[in-house]
This record gives sequence, C-alpha cells and structure tokens, in this order.
Amino acid sequence: MIIARTFEELRAARATLGSIGFVPTMGALHEGHLSLIEAAKTAGLPVAASIFVNPTQFGPREDFARYPRDEAGDLAKLEEAGCALAWLPTADIMYPPHDSTHIQMAGPALHWEGASRPGHFNGVATVVAKLFGQLRPQAAYFGEKDWQQVQVVSRMVADLVLPVEIVPVPTVREADGLALSSRNRYLTAEERRAAPRLYATLTHAAQEIVAGKEVAATLHHARHELAQAGMVPDYVALVHAQSLEAVSGLVHPARLIAAAKLGHVRLLDNLPVG
Ligand code: PAJ
Repeated sequence: MIIARTFEELRAARATLGSIGFVPTMGALHEGHLSLIEAAKTAGLPVAASIFVNPTQFGPREDFARYPRDEAGDLAKLEEAGCALAWLPTADIMYPPHDSTHIQMAGPALHWEGASRPGHFNGVATVVAKLFGQLRPQAAYFGEKDWQQVQVVSRMVADLVLPVEIVPVPTVREADGLALSSRNRYLTAEERRAAPRLYATLTHAAQEIVAGKEVAATLHHARHELAQAGMVPDYVALVHAQSLEAVSGLVHPARLIAAAKLGHVRLLDNLPVG
C-alpha cells in the first residue's frame, strides 16, 4: 500500500493506478468502513482510501478536538483490507491559506442533520469535492449509515457534473442491531445495552407503516419508545429517500431516519420503508 501525505506523493502514486474506487473516511476505522473497501474491491478497481478529520464539518460545540484518532491502527487496517493507496492530507493541504471556495448545499441538506448541525453538510460537500478533485476516482463508496450524507453527496455530484459514480453501501451492524460507529466507544456499558433500541424501534415503526398504521401516530410512538430507552430523540421522520422531504404517508422510495442522544453520544440510524 502506498501512503501519500503530500501532493507530490499523491501525484506519483496516482500515476501508477489508472481507474480507482475511492473510500473517504475520517479514520477510527471499523468494519463499517472496511465494508466500503470490500464493495470497491468487488467492482474490480484498485482502492484508495483517505483519512482526514475535516474541521469544516464540525460545529463550534462539536467533538472535532476529541474525535478518535489512531493513524497507525488505521493504516494497518487499510493495508490488511487490500487498499492500494492511503491519502492522508493535512488541514493545510485541504484548506490552503488563500482557499476561497466553499460549497453551500440546499435541497437534501436542509433538514434533519442539516438543521441540527448548521454548516455540517457544506463542510462535507466541500471536502468531498476537493477529495474527488485530488483522487479523480471512477467510483466513490459511501455508507447508508449516513443516509442523508449519501443523498447530499449524490446531489452535489449531479449539480456540479462531477465525473464520479456514487455507490451506497448497506449499514454494517453489531449482532444486536446497533449500527457500527466510531463514536460508539464513548457509550457507557449501560448506554451500550440501551443503544440497540434505536434500530429495534425503527424496525418496528417501519413494519407498522407498511401495515398501514397512521404515519404521525407511529412516529410519535417511536419517539416515546426511544425516550423510554433513556434516549433524547432529536428527530424520527418518514422522508422521501432522495429529497429527504418529510412525507405524511408512504411514498416510493421512502426512508425512516432518526437521531437520538444517548448520554453524550448522538446515535444515527435509518431504514428503507416498503
Ligand atoms: P466517517 O464517519 O469516517 O465515515 C466514512 C464512511 O464510512 C461514510 O461513508 C460512512 O457512512 C461509512 N460508515 C460509517 N459507519 C458505517 C456502518 N456502520 N456501515 C456502513 N458504512 C459506514 O462520513 C464521514 O466520515 C465524513 O463525513 C466524510 C465523508 C469522510 C467527509 O469528511
């Protein structure tokens, strides 16, 4: 595996590779990230992964400073997973002194995570566009775990006519249903036992909606169940799967999305409905 930390190293590495599949990450890698690499390998392309904890997608009161960082462990995992290239840019490379261009997203970025974390998706779209320019991948792989992020990136790529295919990859879960996340390590033992209630609640709500139960009542009940599990629900919503607009009845394609605070950790999850 080639490790590139400068533009010079990236250019030299990139010249040896031809078409590539690309997996952008912020490190602290787990099986969810590795499933994206697997998906890229299945497509028969050499795989490049990036590790960059992107400051512009964190709000001022968010966990940028204490976001988990484990470069040596991450590089060993990428190597083991069969990555051809690891791109580890610095903040100065991504945001040089006279950097003056920032993508501003509307549409699928407006609600939910976009409302709870103002500026978050502008930061994501900007850094992903820069990474695409640096790596020029044929395809890029994103986890459905962050459903809204996949839709925002897909919208950005369509709007800016970027020559890259966005490939969504199913969420990897623990045996009890909890979606893998770098932040799960901050759950206490008791919180960890409660955390799978998010997926269980969404699964149940999705079944009820498909069975014809009223959407508003089902969502209300789901929020109540999350509160009973000790969570503070931020949102539980039925949305159009691509536009992320809330819908009051079943549409196709529909997605059930939720975020809830459990202790200090914000849990995210989502499911297809119907
Ligand atoms: P990060 O949180 O490190 O996630 C990197 C990729 O891994 C994302 O596409 C995310 O959806 C995916 N992922 C995380 N947990 C997963 C799981 N349990 N199953 C499947 N995929 C999972 O998302 C980001 O970084 C950043 O916003 C980034 C796109 C790198 C831009 O900075």
